[in-house]
Amino acid sequence: MKLLVTGAHGQLARSLVERSRLFPEIELVAIGRPKLDLAVPGSAEEWILKHRPELVINTAADTDVDGAEEHQQLAFRLNAEAAGEVAAAAAVVGVPVIQLSTDYVFAGTATEPIAESAPTRPLNAYGRTKLAGEQAVRAANADHLILRTAWVYSPYGRNFVKTMYDAAEERDELRVVADQRGSPTSALDLAEALLAIARRWKGGTTTGRGETYHLGGGGEASWYELAEEVMSARRRLALRGARIIPIPWKEWPMRAVRPTHSVLDSSKFARDFGIVLPDWRQSVGEVVKQLAAR
Ligand SMILES: NC(=O)c1ccc[n+]([C@@H]2O[C@H](COP(=O)([O-])OP(=O)(O)OC[C@H]3O[C@@H](n4cnc5c(N)ncnc54)[C@H](OP(=O)(O)O)[C@@H]3O)[C@@H](O)[C@H]2O)c1
Repeated sequence: MKLLVTGAHGQLARSLVERSRLFPEIELVAIGRPKLDLAVPGSAEEWILKHRPELVINTAADTDVDGAEEHQQLAFRLNAEAAGEVAAAAAVVGVPVIQLSTDYVFAGTATEPIAESAPTRPLNAYGRTKLAGEQAVRAANADHLILRTAWVYSPYGRNFVKTMYDAAEERDELRVVADQRGSPTSALDLAEALLAIARRWKGGTTTGRGETYHLGGGGEASWYELAEEVMSARRRLALRGARIIPIPWKEWPMRAVRPTHSVLDSSKFARDFGIVLPDWRQSVGEVVKQLAAR
């Protein structure tokens, strides 16, 4: 199966490339800027028509949550309009599209894990533009799967786990928010789940097409607990760990407001695909091992 992935240099795209080695039946083509540039109308269609894949996964996005407050137009272009264009281009060649979305489409005021049917109410520009992207994808291509994930980390790009890992090299103490909870998700685990869906669809099943799913790492955590786990994983490898000091989010001013409780309920995904991502602590350990081996 030929799979085209947008946003080639991002952490999920790189994880897809890495994990595609486990899926010999999948030929993965990852295209990023400057070739496939979502800021340019028609760019996605050009590359999709050129490669004629059997499935498109749109990982490209403006993921700068705080920056999006300032450049809302660009965020809307990339996360909403362009997502619709990618989906429409997939429809032109008659293939499905998988669109990545986020827990930030929710306000996160409940304390229960959030199901797909929960009402959306984004608190920030990033969440609003990603929600508009979901709507654009549904309108452009009935053959879609929207996958909302959260708190993504990996050995690649910029992410919280890597930031904590690197900070511990130089700092003795780190102040980390303890009153926001979510579903830390390894991009490597997520990539494997996405490739498993591709394999299934290649085999002729249509499970999940036209659906929206939540998929996060097993368990839940606060940023503080996640940082603590990074330090524990470093210490297991005989690397120094910084002391983590819990603080309330109000003491860590950020431009974009974030949900306080955005743990995703991934049970619909488990039911339909038989896939449950590993517990986040285990996956953090694996990513820390990879970071240590760089
Ligand atoms: N990271 C998270 O915590 C998180 C949480 C929930 C959902 N998601 C969603 O999951 C998906 C993958 O996220 P990720 O963590 O892999 O993000 P990422 O590492 O920031 O990668 C996003 C990619 O999008 C690319 N991009 C930005 N502007 C572009 C443009 N004009 N044209 C083409 N590509 C462009 C970037 O390219 P350059 O490398 O060239 O800058 C980058 O490689 C996104 O849809 C994101 O919204 C992420």
